[in-house]
Amino acid sequence: MPASRRGSGSVTLPSGQTLAVHTRTQDEEDLPHATKKTMADHLRKYESLFTLTPQRMRMIVEAFKDTLELGLEKHGQIVPMIPTYVFGWPTGGETGDFLAVDLGGTNLRVCLVTLQGNGKFEITQSKYRLTEEQKQEDGQKLFDFCAECLKLFIDTNFEPGSIKDGELLPLGFTFSYPCTQDRIDHGVLIRWTKGFGAANTEGRDVAEMFRQSLEKQKLPVHLTAIINDTTGTLIASSYVNPRTKIAVIFGTGCNAAYMERVGDIPKIKNLGIDDDAEMVINCEWGAFDSFEHEHLPRTKYDQTIDEQSNKPGEQAFEKLISGRYLGEILRLVICELIDDGVLFLGQNTYKLEIPYAFDTAFLSLMERHVFDPTEELLMIIGIFSHFFALETTLAERQFFRALAKLVGRRAARLSSCGIAAIVSRKGYLEEGCAVGADGSLYNKYPGFAERVHEGLQDIFGDKGRNIITYHAEDGSGVGSAIIAAMTKIRKERGLHAHV
Ligand code: GLC
Repeated sequence: MPASRRGSGSVTLPSGQTLAVHTRTQDEEDLPHATKKTMADHLRKYESLFTLTPQRMRMIVEAFKDTLELGLEKHGQIVPMIPTYVFGWPTGGETGDFLAVDLGGTNLRVCLVTLQGNGKFEITQSKYRLTEEQKQEDGQKLFDFCAECLKLFIDTNFEPGSIKDGELLPLGFTFSYPCTQDRIDHGVLIRWTKGFGAANTEGRDVAEMFRQSLEKQKLPVHLTAIINDTTGTLIASSYVNPRTKIAVIFGTGCNAAYMERVGDIPKIKNLGIDDDAEMVINCEWGAFDSFEHEHLPRTKYDQTIDEQSNKPGEQAFEKLISGRYLGEILRLVICELIDDGVLFLGQNTYKLEIPYAFDTAFLSLMERHVFDPTEELLMIIGIFSHFFALETTLAERQFFRALAKLVGRRAARLSSCGIAAIVSRKGYLEEGCAVGADGSLYNKYPGFAERVHEGLQDIFGDKGRNIITYHAEDGSGVGSAIIAAMTKIRKERGLHAHV
């Protein structure tokens, strides 16, 4: 009997593809599908695997605090707690024109930022998609590509002659990977994260490599600062909202930055910087619990992701949270149920068996009610039929949505543990603080922020309400410009590069 259609519509996915969805008045029974009861039984099993109790969360927070402490004490720790040489908060009065190149996890972005003072700014930008090959080929070629894009941007956005002979535009380079810094315009890549693997880059000063690429293009720029996206986000958010004390990125990767008193960073005591000065710390907390795997509740799906990644053992915390991995966690659970003969019997599942075929954007679409107001779960029908050529029953779709919730909720609650560790280290709980957050997961995953807040209350009780996350300013563009401006002011005042 042909299926009768009750409703239809279309949705545009983040990838730009359009997805047509339709629903039926009855589920077809010509394929052997799992029953409601079977799916409910399976769900219970996954619930216990993916649920984090408040008690467990508090234990994670304690371990996290010790890790942060250790990273500040000694060089070369797993969570490196990187001193960034960005000193103090912006005043909001910084002004001027600045260029920024932002090499993130997915895109390359070039920006021209005009800081107007009073916490105001204007930004013009272009985005370029990075290919998988570019992420793996020689590092110098990757920086050459960044410089080429910057040249194109300058040629397009500046009138000929508007840059005077000999004039150099200040450029901030947002390079969002762990780099050890001795000064603000220097950064030795500790290791690639987020699936990057470009050769001849780890262990080298990426600022110097980028300078070489800029020279090849003879660009009228001066690379003044190398910045992590979290550092930029902290500074940009504080520029417009001075209550901001912490910045977190929930994107392809996951990381945080906050301001530390120099006297409380024992590992840089020897530099003779005033103890009461304040410096941004890029935590690189994605590395929490790497290698030893003592503290985090890893399931066998998480272990598979880790083992099959290009960096086994590393970024243990990030692999449970960030947008790069959530879709893959869900896909692995579904594949297990396919192998066990529970799901999609008699259907060809090869499209779903391709690693990373299940985009994290699908999880957020599956959870989003606004696009999917019928009880038939139209969106989930659409995702499985359009992208994976698979028929689903309502019971299966309800299961998939519930599973997405479990995976998304665990990510958010683990993030609360990281935030709570910084909050309690710095004593921000009583008076409260704002946490500037950015990244696709935070901005697009329905309910993510609410779940982080709920997690903070589970950890701290009612006082957890004092810690509020909000959608931060663009740290990689605007933040980078403000840091370049702050650096220029310090130099003009004759302050030594790192004192
Ligand atoms: C990864 C990077 C880190 C970055 C984060 C968010 O964790 O190592 O530097 O801040 O992703 O982009």
